Amino acid sequence: MEHIPVLKDHIVELFSPVDGTFIDATVGAGGHALAIAKALQNSKPQTPRPPSTWHVGQVNSKQNQSLKLNISNLNLASNLGFRTSSLQLIGLDRDSAALALANENLKTKMSKLGMDYNTIVTLVRGNFRDIKSILGELKIEKVNGILADLGMSSMQLDDPTRGFSFRHEAPLDMRMSTNSKIQDTNIKQIQNSKLKIKNSDLTAELIIKTWDEHKIADILWQYGEERFSRKIARAIKEHRRDISSTTDLAKLCEKCVPPRFRKHGVHPATKTFQALRITVNDEVDALKDFLRDAPDLLAPGGRLAVISFHSLEDRLVKQQFNELASNGGYEKITKKPIIATDDAIALNPRSRSAKLRCIKRV
Ligand SMILES: C[S@@+](CC[C@H](N)C(=O)[O-])C[C@H]1O[C@@H](n2cnc3c(N)ncnc32)[C@H](O)[C@@H]1O
Repeated sequence: MEHIPVLKDHIVELFSPVDGTFIDATVGAGGHALAIAKALQNSKPQTPRPPSTWHVGQVNSKQNQSLKLNISNLNLASNLGFRTSSLQLIGLDRDSAALALANENLKTKMSKLGMDYNTIVTLVRGNFRDIKSILGELKIEKVNGILADLGMSSMQLDDPTRGFSFRHEAPLDMRMSTNSKIQDTNIKQIQNSKLKIKNSDLTAELIIKTWDEHKIADILWQYGEERFSRKIARAIKEHRRDISSTTDLAKLCEKCVPPRFRKHGVHPATKTFQALRITVNDEVDALKDFLRDAPDLLAPGGRLAVISFHSLEDRLVKQQFNELASNGGYEKITKKPIIATDDAIALNPRSRSAKLRCIKRV
């Protein structure tokens, strides 16, 4: 299924006018990144600026040679009639499969729009919890926009090998950071070994097979808000030898959640799967680290927007944004979170629980 970017028009509006250095910290399939690039296309005159005012951006200034290459790319781009701008789009993702897709999508779609993909976009494999050090590696000090669209993409959910979905028979893996080799030279691998993503050893299967019943109940309650957390955890403990796939676990959840407590159209294993995924990928602590470091990376006027899908995540975003605004130096752009309209939800059910909050550095 194609990934439909959640609250896309609101994102474009919050970041407009689009220019400068923009970090999509969860680039996924590149849907939001493309919308940002398109907004630039629509908001600027067609004539390229003279070379003296072009910003090459520190992203590519690591080696003099590559800087030179980029300047010549810009000249070539303008000669070929490509649109050039000061927009530098850095797309970050922890999943190499997502980056490969973003690379393909953005390259194709931006070229069709007459935009010079190679000059504008840099894709980096990394965890957004390391955003400060990653930007340091890229020699970028301040940025004009940062977006994080949390959770997983439709492609990850639909990939039967990843174990995120109870709809496909798969091993209980659920790790977001795949180790697949990145062939495309457009995707940067961070050199600093501390920041290199290692495929964590924790999988959903390891939790199911080895964790204490109470610890499992706690994560199901905390990260899934599953009211039958204790019952499911007990059943997992009793049957753990027989649970080896996503569908085994889904069937067990079905037995534990009485029909009268099931929501129409929501599978009884949904909350359990969400809780396991959040735990396997250490998503809550990664978000805390990101919220601690990202605001400081904004240039004056720069904005940080976060789309969350879970009350725990939204609470963290809300608390941090409130604190930043009350300490001064930041202004809340969204007094209340932006949520999807009924029409948008009908088009993209994933947006049902989305909450978008944004702050600006003053
Ligand atoms: C909802 S999708 C983003 C979709 C994207 N906005 C689009 O329009 O195509 C979330 C993406 O964030 C990535 N992700 C989740 N947690 C991350 C983290 N801590 N650091 C970097 N990427 C992360 C996932 O691998 C996934 O590709």
